[in-house]
Amino acid sequence: MYKQARWDEPVIFDLGREGRRGHIIPDVEEEIKGTVGNTMNLLPEKLRRKKPPSLPELSETEIVRHYTRLSQMNYSVDQGLYPLGSCTMKYNPKINEILARSPSIAMIHPYQDEETVQGILDIMHKLSRWLAEITGTCEVSLQPAAGAHGELLGTLIMRAHHMLNNELEDRTELIIPDAAHGTNPASGTMAGFKVVVVPSDENGCVDLEAITDAVSDRTAGLMLTNPNTLGIFEKDIEEIARIIHGAGGLLYYDGANLNPILGKVRPCDMGFDIVHINIHKTFGTPHGGGGPGAGPIGVSKQLAKFLPVPRIEVDGGKYYLDYDKPHSVGKIRCFYGNVGVLLKAFAYILSLGAEGLEEVAEVSVLNANYLLQKLKEIRGFDIPYAENRPRKHECVFSSDKLYKETGVRALDIAKRILDYGMHSPITYFPLIVKEALMIEPTESYEKEELDRFIDTMRMISDEAYSKPEGVLNAPQNTAILRLDEAKASHPKTMTLSWRMHWKKKG
Ligand SMILES: Cc1ncc(COP(=O)(O)O)c(C=O)c1O
Repeated sequence: MYKQARWDEPVIFDLGREGRRGHIIPDVEEEIKGTVGNTMNLLPEKLRRKKPPSLPELSETEIVRHYTRLSQMNYSVDQGLYPLGSCTMKYNPKINEILARSPSIAMIHPYQDEETVQGILDIMHKLSRWLAEITGTCEVSLQPAAGAHGELLGTLIMRAHHMLNNELEDRTELIIPDAAHGTNPASGTMAGFKVVVVPSDENGCVDLEAITDAVSDRTAGLMLTNPNTLGIFEKDIEEIARIIHGAGGLLYYDGANLNPILGKVRPCDMGFDIVHINIHKTFGTPHGGGGPGAGPIGVSKQLAKFLPVPRIEVDGGKYYLDYDKPHSVGKIRCFYGNVGVLLKAFAYILSLGAEGLEEVAEVSVLNANYLLQKLKEIRGFDIPYAENRPRKHECVFSSDKLYKETGVRALDIAKRILDYGMHSPITYFPLIVKEALMIEPTESYEKEELDRFIDTMRMISDEAYSKPEGVLNAPQNTAILRLDEAKASHPKTMTLSWRMHWKKKG
């Protein structure tokens, strides 16, 4: 049985003692005086603090031990299975981290003259061409910092397209299926569209009839995830594209989880005009608590003129930044985007190559279907849609039967898994599934690890039917026991920084 470390660790501010030192920072001004002999002030007086910031004072060993103890109370992709459906928590190769941290890259400043940053411009240009090739799009912008950010940019481009055609006043509606990720309707609304929700049919695909009924001359476009959030491939996608394009709308592809189709099929070949990609999922860069993301978007030829500036262009082997794009929607993020993240994706694609990426797709699909077949035998678990259709990268179960028969909810299952040293799946999403458990194994795990997960789920189901208290009171073996979720996420109780803590304490 797993047991997570449980330290009674104070915050670092409470550990500090006045005068204790970990590192003596050299006096830079004194050093400069010594070398060049003048007394210039590196920082102008008006920019200097009147008194030093109140930072905790600790020795190096105290700091190392503090953070090591905290890390022992945490869980990460480097420890074991992290089957968060739709989040694609795959292994993040360490070599990519080393590359992104190398001084020749990390020390570049975004204000440097483009003459002096030809190397990074070359990398970013190549990456955008590879992403265009992978998605079948014509041009790619690397600027957005997350999937949702890419969605916002994509829907703004949709707007710009209809505006240029003098149709924006009429085309006010964006069609989105009820299985969509929550960011889809949020982004569409932020871009000024009215969201029209269409239901899924009994096969877990978007209902074609409902799309036909929803489409009109008010349609600006459709946002679709394919494979959708149930892990099912929308087999009627070509027909859907015909309906939307026939009505003058555009097709937006939510490519947060591109892993199952890499090298197999391309969104633009399915008929999509705008595609976003979650670099931090598909291309193995850390996310969640592990790092920032990147959500590049690719567009078809007719929409390329709307992409944000600057565009990285090349002329006679020299890269330059082109701001002269009169139809551009402008800037969506400062400078060039999250370059460190993009660099890791560049290394990931380069190291795998075309064949490796295709293998990613195959293994991620194989793993998800292995789990689907094994988990469906577990008492109390049902496959809510199209039981006999293979899934792509993820599968969704309903534990509603288990809930009705034992009182144990999906949330309790998710908590109990933690006691076995694994992360829980996503729960209660997609919203169309009761007591949903959404599981994405990714291609990063061996069969033994998947079998361990299957055995764990079986044990939890057995426990729910025999002595449910163990599941209802889980977790017991983690550093932090069950939280009051509503309280923990309420702005009044949430304390995210030391400053907030002190303010709340009064
Ligand atoms: C299907 C889908 N679309 C969009 C997003 C949004 O991506 P991000 O979290 O990077 O904003 C996610 C993230 O979980 C997702 O799973």
